[in-house]
Amino acid sequence: MVHGEAFSRPLSRNEVVGLIFRLTVFGAVTYFTIKWMVDAIDPTRKQKVEAQKQAEKLMRQIGVKDVKLTEYEMSIAAHLVDPLSMLVTWSDIAGLDDVITDLKDTVILPIRKRYLFENSRLLQPPKGVLLYGPPGCGKTLIAKATAKEAGCRFINLQPSTLTDKWYGESQKLAAAVFSLAVKLQPSIIFIDEIDSFLRNRSSSDHEATAMMKAQFMSLWDGLDTDYNCQVIVMGATNRPQDLDTAIMRRMPTRFHINLPSTKQREAILDLILRNERVDSHVDLQEVARSSDGFSGSDLKEMCRDAALLCVRDSVTGYSEESPCEAIRPIKQQDLLKAINKMKKSKNATNQGVLMHVALD
Ligand SMILES: Nc1ncnc2c1ncn2[C@@H]1O[C@H](COP(=O)(O)OP(=O)(O)OP(=O)(O)O)[C@@H](O)[C@H]1O
Ligand SMILES: [Mg+2]
Repeated sequence: MVHGEAFSRPLSRNEVVGLIFRLTVFGAVTYFTIKWMVDAIDPTRKQKVEAQKQAEKLMRQIGVKDVKLTEYEMSIAAHLVDPLSMLVTWSDIAGLDDVITDLKDTVILPIRKRYLFENSRLLQPPKGVLLYGPPGCGKTLIAKATAKEAGCRFINLQPSTLTDKWYGESQKLAAAVFSLAVKLQPSIIFIDEIDSFLRNRSSSDHEATAMMKAQFMSLWDGLDTDYNCQVIVMGATNRPQDLDTAIMRRMPTRFHINLPSTKQREAILDLILRNERVDSHVDLQEVARSSDGFSGSDLKEMCRDAALLCVRDSVTGYSEESPCEAIRPIKQQDLLKAINKMKKSKNATNQGVLMHVALD
């Protein structure tokens, strides 16, 4: 009887306010709890927050101001390169003067001296540049020096940045790469080992990957329509044959960075040994001649080996009676020994001897 009365009685003003208050608190608590739970189960959230912080820090360092970025662009902006933090300059690359001059003329000059080329549609910087050639010959090195010296924004794009577990996110991130580059222009989007990311399309490609590749290509084409747009996509690979033909078409400026010739090897050796203690009788020409087929990276490893031989000598010759801790200079003999050792190991790997070594 009492219950029936309570229901039929109209609610007082205080009761209504109290009810609304309780409902509001309940709604807010539910909303924040669900939001917290969704955030907690998203494995990429921590990564996204860190990327955002990194991006903001980088933008401040580079001096980008008054540019509003979306959440997707922020996660790409974390891969901007701060030129001041790069240590490689043109002078750290030996024997590739022709390539460097060519690169400066075709890519960097039109960006830096834009006013000279403004009236010409032909003399705009290329939309795509490809560095290709055997491993260890200086492709990544050239890209690093470009980032430092080009005087434009440089986005070092890792393919992993574009992958996301949610369907469709990869495409949004691919679109963000280009929209960010356009906002920050003049800019270079650099993709190292581009063959892994934009390799030949095939029917066995995962749907999300295929869509991302297609999106990337169409956005890249979009750069062509605006003649004032100064965005360049630069790629490096040692497997150009694996690249999709449509991608090759979008990279009309190509630089072949081949194994160094004798003269180039001499220049590389000179650069590597410049700050080391080297015996005055060392004949770099002979060392260059005997290291036929070596890449720049092989030469560096070979010099390291030769330097280690000197260290080993000084350590084995060290005794309590005659303490002599000074490391002797690198001699011709050390370099030749190191070359022989490197040749042997190169031959062994070429003949596939390593294939027969038990992996355990
Ligand atoms: N021309 C060069 N001048 C000076 N050092 C060189 C040169 N070429 C290669 N090197 C040395 O070899 C190392 C490897 O070079 P780099 O990373 O540029 O090779 P890469 O062409 O990108 O190879 P990969 O195709 O395997 O990525 C460099 O860090 C540098 O020490
Ligand atoms: Mg490389």
